[in-house]
Amino acid sequence: MSSAIRETGLPEHAVDVRADFPALSQDINGKPLVYLDSAASAQLPTAVIDAMRHYQMHDHANVHRGIHTLSQRATDAYEGARSRIATFIGAESAEEIVFTRGTTEAINLVAASFVEPRLQAGDDIVITHLEHHANIVPWQLLAERTGATLVVVPINDDGSVAPAAFAAALTERTKMAAFAHTSNALGTVLPAKELTQIAHSRGVPVLIDGAQAMPHGSVDVSAIGCDFFAFSGHKMYGPTGIGCLYGRADRLADMPPWQGGGDMIREVSFAATTYNDAPYRFEAGTPNIVGAVGLGAAVDYLQSIGPEQIAAHEAELLAYGTDLLSKISGLRLVGTASSKAAVLSFVVDDTHPTDIGTLLDQQGVAIRTGHHCAMPVMQHYGLPGTARASLGVYNNKSDLDRLADALTISIGMLTG
Ligand code: ALA
Repeated sequence: MSSAIRETGLPEHAVDVRADFPALSQDINGKPLVYLDSAASAQLPTAVIDAMRHYQMHDHANVHRGIHTLSQRATDAYEGARSRIATFIGAESAEEIVFTRGTTEAINLVAASFVEPRLQAGDDIVITHLEHHANIVPWQLLAERTGATLVVVPINDDGSVAPAAFAAALTERTKMAAFAHTSNALGTVLPAKELTQIAHSRGVPVLIDGAQAMPHGSVDVSAIGCDFFAFSGHKMYGPTGIGCLYGRADRLADMPPWQGGGDMIREVSFAATTYNDAPYRFEAGTPNIVGAVGLGAAVDYLQSIGPEQIAAHEAELLAYGTDLLSKISGLRLVGTASSKAAVLSFVVDDTHPTDIGTLLDQQGVAIRTGHHCAMPVMQHYGLPGTARASLGVYNNKSDLDRLADALTISIGMLTG
């Protein structure tokens, strides 16, 4: 990085969309906000806020139920979002997209509806050591219910997962493999396509937790070849409470309902009930329509910038931030895999991450501290937690300069 950038804070990035995000134009504790907690929840652009507001002011009604105009408009908005999301992730059809409350619900759906009916005592489910709790606990619960075993692929000290270690964990007992595309705690990007091919070569279906991958570049589920892919709206500039499960059509077609209620049925009688086709079979009850509208608008927004441009912009910022933080005395980056996205996790000698986070907030810099819902990752490193600065499309080099300056001040206050 040229020292001119550091000295002047001039942005040299190709993507400059900060003005699209109203929440970023505020002062926190008397300083302009620097938001570096997008891995927890990204901010919403005006385009998404406006789409949701427009829907609620003009088009709201229930979906799939009414013949009146508003119900038809709501249905078009909801199903239109499903179609655009399907195209965005390279699904073959909109019917491969199930709306859920988020990644967590999507993984629980697959555990209950796809894996449980196929699982017996003595079978294995394979995950990795770097998973978010959302991709651990549903499988643990399932293992407890069925007598299956959870097999954990180790991570290397840089936070990477070796394909050979993944392959070694798969046996004739393995009935499912589930892994993150991108680690929320470390930023490691796993070789999703390669791992999927390894699993498929052994006849093992694959679920990918894509929550942290979706905001950072293009995802193509058909190219990856996975059976399932889960993600959340609020990590990708959409609202909370909405997410998706992508399921390959033949997989979804085979799966029984997991929740009962309205809209997931074809015909109900006390003698017998028959069920709707996928994806509606998995969407019992009135769905989060405005959430789907917001997520559809978020996809439009990401597409308008360009996933490749976003990835390039964030890669440049990650390199810049890594360089800056590496120069801070006593600071150690946790998670240094060569394939990484958007996350700078770190610890500082003789300080607690919570104290660092509190002092940064006082200087207007928002980061997350703690275990990041990935306690086994922290256990691997023997840490109670880390401080984590995570990047979004709206960040720039000035944000990272502010982070580095605020860190230097904070460390001085805590250790000086
Ligand atoms: N999964 C979210 C995070 O990484 C909450 O912070």
